[in-house]
Amino acid sequence: MSDSSVWQRAADPRRRIGRAVEFHAAIGSTNDRARALLAALPAEGTVVVADVQSLGRGRLGRVWHSPPGRNLLVSVPVRPALAGSRAWQLSAAAALAVREAAAPHAALAVRWPNDLVAADGLKVAGLLVETTLLGDTIADAVVGIGINVNWRRAEMPAELAARATSLADLAGEALDRVALLGRLLAALDRELAGLERGASPLARYRGASWLDGRRVAVRAGARLVEGRAAGIAADGALLVETERGSESVSYGEVIAVELPRQVPA
Ligand code: BTN
Repeated sequence: MSDSSVWQRAADPRRRIGRAVEFHAAIGSTNDRARALLAALPAEGTVVVADVQSLGRGRLGRVWHSPPGRNLLVSVPVRPALAGSRAWQLSAAAALAVREAAAPHAALAVRWPNDLVAADGLKVAGLLVETTLLGDTIADAVVGIGINVNWRRAEMPAELAARATSLADLAGEALDRVALLGRLLAALDRELAGLERGASPLARYRGASWLDGRRVAVRAGARLVEGRAAGIAADGALLVETERGSESVSYGEVIAVELPRQVPA
């Protein structure tokens, strides 16, 4: 467990993102707190961190599990000057920022749309980006990030250990969560500035993609797309070569993939 003072090391008043860090020993969901901060202008610079969440949520209504004081649970409220059609770029850029922050400890890849995975496909981090659109523009967004940092795989429940790992497992040692947050906020700050200058993260997102060439099953609402992942389209959609030809999936979840080698927890 930790206290607020140690987390202030990750704040930097010169940055737009993470000028201040608001720490909670326990909270419902950091995403909800970040959303509340957005209601109080200017709010953008403050990021929300917690040691544990009672209502941590993942994509598609899932629960995000994380034991107290081990991982990084952070939500970043932003008001990016971006068109709504570029919302996927915000998620992609945030995933690339997590990848960069983790790079001194582990080489992570991005499993579409924005899971961070180890080379064997075990999940290390996930993003929940909750965006409000106003007409054609993004009014604001909360970038919620959960990274398994010091939660060792051997301590995870079996059903999670079958598909997840942590930076500490990959690095072979415990990590400083505050230093990791500092690198993450700096990387996010650069990514956001790049997006607003008009740069696209597409080439780097493609380069980081873990699914390419693997057989996948993707659920997109009522549609099930099965075939071989064939890269990322210009609009961030996953391309899948199926028996019917190439299909593009803009929103959904990969529910099956060529299994990574089974590693005992
Ligand atoms: C996913 O992979 O499904 C996304 C997981 C996102 C979890 C993070 S933890 C911090 C923030 N607060 C939440 O309630 N969720 C996100």
